[in-house]
Amino acid sequence: MKNKYRICIFGLGYVGLPLAIEFGKKIETVGYDINKKRISQLSKRNDFNNDIKPIEFQRSKKLIFTNDLNKIMSCNFYIICVPTPVDKKNSPDLFILKDATNKISKVLKKGDIVVYESTVYPGVTEEVCIPILSKNSKLQLNKDFYCGYSPERINPGDSSHTLKKITKIISGSNKFALNEIYKIYNKILLSRPYKVENIRIAEAAKIIENTQRDINISLMNEFSIILNKLGINTNSVLNAAKTKWNFLDFKPGLVGGHCIGVDPYYLTYKAKKIGVDPKVILAGRKTNDKMYKFIYLKLKEKLKKRNLNFRNLNILFLGVTFKENISDTRNSQSLKLVKLLLKNRSKIDIYDPFIKEINEIKKTTVISEWKKIKKYDLIIHAVKHKNFNIFYNKKNYIKYLTKKGFIYDIHNLFQKGKNVFFL
Ligand SMILES: NC(=O)c1ccc[n+]([C@@H]2O[C@H](COP(=O)([O-])OP(=O)(O)OC[C@H]3O[C@@H](n4cnc5c(N)ncnc54)[C@H](O)[C@@H]3O)[C@@H](O)[C@H]2O)c1
Repeated sequence: MKNKYRICIFGLGYVGLPLAIEFGKKIETVGYDINKKRISQLSKRNDFNNDIKPIEFQRSKKLIFTNDLNKIMSCNFYIICVPTPVDKKNSPDLFILKDATNKISKVLKKGDIVVYESTVYPGVTEEVCIPILSKNSKLQLNKDFYCGYSPERINPGDSSHTLKKITKIISGSNKFALNEIYKIYNKILLSRPYKVENIRIAEAAKIIENTQRDINISLMNEFSIILNKLGINTNSVLNAAKTKWNFLDFKPGLVGGHCIGVDPYYLTYKAKKIGVDPKVILAGRKTNDKMYKFIYLKLKEKLKKRNLNFRNLNILFLGVTFKENISDTRNSQSLKLVKLLLKNRSKIDIYDPFIKEINEIKKTTVISEWKKIKKYDLIIHAVKHKNFNIFYNKKNYIKYLTKKGFIYDIHNLFQKGKNVFFL
């Protein structure tokens, strides 16, 4: 191993920042991000994603933050953690990844190693990124510089599966790269990195992990749609089925965000390119993407039975982030549900302790303190943030309901009562 590696983490979001913090505890590390505001806040030890506590910044003594490319020139081990979204047609949008790679290619020197952590379809590192690096730098792969891919598995909002604790898959452009990448990551991880034979295996492993989860949730969503029509409680069925040793414990729900709801499209894109029709994956995506509409229609049906409509109700909406215990609203299905309700001129207060304001929605009040909650005709439990468990108890939730008020709980966590309906 080289005597002195100096790490650059390129892109300091949910993936890049925890990595930068851990590396900065052991090795000289520069955290680079294009977003000046992000750099300015991080330099003041403030993570607006609420992922990293100030004490962790303090412990990361060898870490500096910058948005100046000149300051990453002295680095020789680059880790790319920039977003890999999809476009309006759900095709991979590699613009940011290419831009980041272009920038790295300008500072690339002999002996440097570049590792990609951004989620991609199998082949992107070798077919898209490495050619940019070689062409611009005039350096040759595995002679002058080296590459690798190591997918990120962190789960924002999950305090048990943190970066240090999870097994990290690593791959390299040759044996030397693989061993160097192994040694570097091994410095910050509690369990040994898992080596795979080549970069494509590592890329594919990540993409199928999230696709499998998407499909399993979509199956549960489809079960819940069928069981709903049959008038059977989905949760009771799942609890019963779960008593079988090999029944997989997935739950129906709203799939949003930028991983599970996006990554399968990277795989289906590549599948189609090579002439495979990924029917199952796309069917799962379709089911999950429509789930918020199903919930909306269920609600509408319930109101109709009570001679009510959305317009004359005061609604409290619990949670608008794309999943529990985080502040991220990107591609949030519960936010889509709020928008649908607003189209029907509903009066909605949103209670989400992880959110201060929602720029996309103007006509609602966002409450971030439960003491400020009034009485409502309808409470919709959309995201199971840990703070919401105060409501689950019957004695507590009754206080927030008007006389005829009721609750629609898509997670089956409220205590049963005549005013509570489940997905
Ligand atoms: N968030 C997750 O749970 C998660 C988990 C595993 C993998 N991933 C993957 O990791 C990658 C990053 O995801 P994330 O959630 O950290 O994204 P993010 O949006 O939270 O952070 C990305 C960061 O990159 C910066 N950035 C954007 N364009 C840039 C550029 N051209 N140059 C430098 N910096 C730039 C942004 O300002 C931002 O701070 C994606 O490919 C994602 O699919 C995410």
